[in-house]
Amino acid sequence: MSVATDPPPLICVVVTSAELGGAERMLVDLLQGMPPGRFRFHVVLPRLGRLALELDQLPVSYEVLSFGGRLSKAGRSGVRAKAALGAVVDVMRYLWLYTRLVARLKPRLIYTHGLKAELLTGIASHWLGLPVVWHLHTFVPKDGWLGRLHRYLQGRTRMLVANSKAVSAGVLPPSSSKTKVIYCGVDIDAFLPQSKSAAEQSLHLVSGASKLRVGMVSVLAPWKGLDVFLHAVQPLLRADARWEAMIVGDPLYDTAGHQGYDRVLKQLAGDLQIADRVVFLPYQLRPASAYACLDIFVHAAKRPEPFGRVIAEAMCMQRAVIATAGGGAVEQIEAGVDGLLVAMDDVGALRAQVARLMADAELRRQLGLAARSKVLRQGSMCQFIERMATVLDEAMAFGPPHAGDSNAETRHRAA
Ligand code: GLC
Repeated sequence: MSVATDPPPLICVVVTSAELGGAERMLVDLLQGMPPGRFRFHVVLPRLGRLALELDQLPVSYEVLSFGGRLSKAGRSGVRAKAALGAVVDVMRYLWLYTRLVARLKPRLIYTHGLKAELLTGIASHWLGLPVVWHLHTFVPKDGWLGRLHRYLQGRTRMLVANSKAVSAGVLPPSSSKTKVIYCGVDIDAFLPQSKSAAEQSLHLVSGASKLRVGMVSVLAPWKGLDVFLHAVQPLLRADARWEAMIVGDPLYDTAGHQGYDRVLKQLAGDLQIADRVVFLPYQLRPASAYACLDIFVHAAKRPEPFGRVIAEAMCMQRAVIATAGGGAVEQIEAGVDGLLVAMDDVGALRAQVARLMADAELRRQLGLAARSKVLRQGSMCQFIERMATVLDEAMAFGPPHAGDSNAETRHRAA
C-alpha cells in the first residue's frame, strides 16, 4: 500500500535578468545542487535567453512574465523619476499579471534575484500574502527615491540574503537577524586547474608558441573597468612581445549603455594601437578553460564589486589574481597572500601590479596556490547550498512579515 506524502514546498523564483551574469549563474548552481525532493522551484523570467536554456537542463519549471519595453531598459543609473514615470504602465501591468500568476501557482515562498524583482515583489507583497526572500546581488541604492523605496520595502521581506558583508551593510537595520551574508559557492570540480595548452586548444587560441596572457573574464559593462585594464596594459604589451591581453565576455544586460560596449572596447584597443595584441572571446558558458589560458587574471571594476564570482572562480583555478579594492573583492582576497589588490579606477596602480606579476613567475605561482587552497577551505558549493536551503526553510516556517513589521526604516530610526 502506498502512503501519500506531501509534495515538497513550491518556491516561486523571480529574476530580473534573463541572461547569465554572476547572479543568474549562482541561481543555476543553487537549483542544480539542491537535493532532489527538498523544494520544487518555478522560475519567473522577464524573457527567454541564456538562463532559460540552462533551466531546460534542470528539474524546474519556468515561465516568462515580460517587464515591458520601458521597464526592461531602466537600469539603476538610468532610473530617474521621469524615466520611472514612463515605465508606470509597464509596472502596473507586471504587478497585475504577477499577482495572478502567484494566485494560480500557490507557492509557499517568493525568492527574488535582482533589483527590479525585489522592488516589484516588495510593492506587490501585500497582495501576494506570502513570505519573501530577497537575494541581494548588488549594492542597495543609497540615495534618491530608489534608495528610499528599497529601504521601505526591505521591511516587507521575511529574509534578506547578501552575497557579501559589503552588500549587507546597505540593509536597514544593518545587523538585523533577518539579514544573512552567504558568499557564493564555487564548484571546485568544474573549476579545476587544467593544462594551459589544452585550454588554449579547446578555445582555438594558438597557432605556434603559447603566449603569456593577462586578461579579464567579465560582463562587458562600463563599470567593470575594462577600459582601465586596456589603458593599464598598453605600454606593458608594447614593451614585451611575449605577452598578450585577453577579454572574455559579452555585454549581457538589456540596461541602457550596455549594448554595443564590445565595439567600444575594440575601438579603444585600436586607438591604443594594441588591437593585434588583445584577444576578444565571446561569453563562455563554461569558463574554466578561459581562466586556464590566463597567467594573470585581472578584475578592474571601477566601483566596489558586490561579491565577484569571477574572482572566486579564478582563485579556484589557481590563477594569480589582481582585483580592485572594494566590496566583496576585499573580503575574498588577502592582499599579498592569495592575490593582489589595487585602487579602483587607477590606471597607474593597476599597471604597476600587472608589471610586477609579469616579471615574477614565482610570485604568480605562489599567489595561485594560496588562492585555490583558500577557496577549497572556504567556498565550497555544498556549504553554500546547505546554508541557502536553511534560509528558505526558515523563511517558509515564519510565514509573511506581520503588519506591524512592515517598515524597517521606521523601526531603525526608532531604535
Ligand atoms: C552579481 C554581482 C557579483 C556577484 C554575483 C553573484 O552579478 O555583480 O559581484 O558575484 O551577482 O552574487
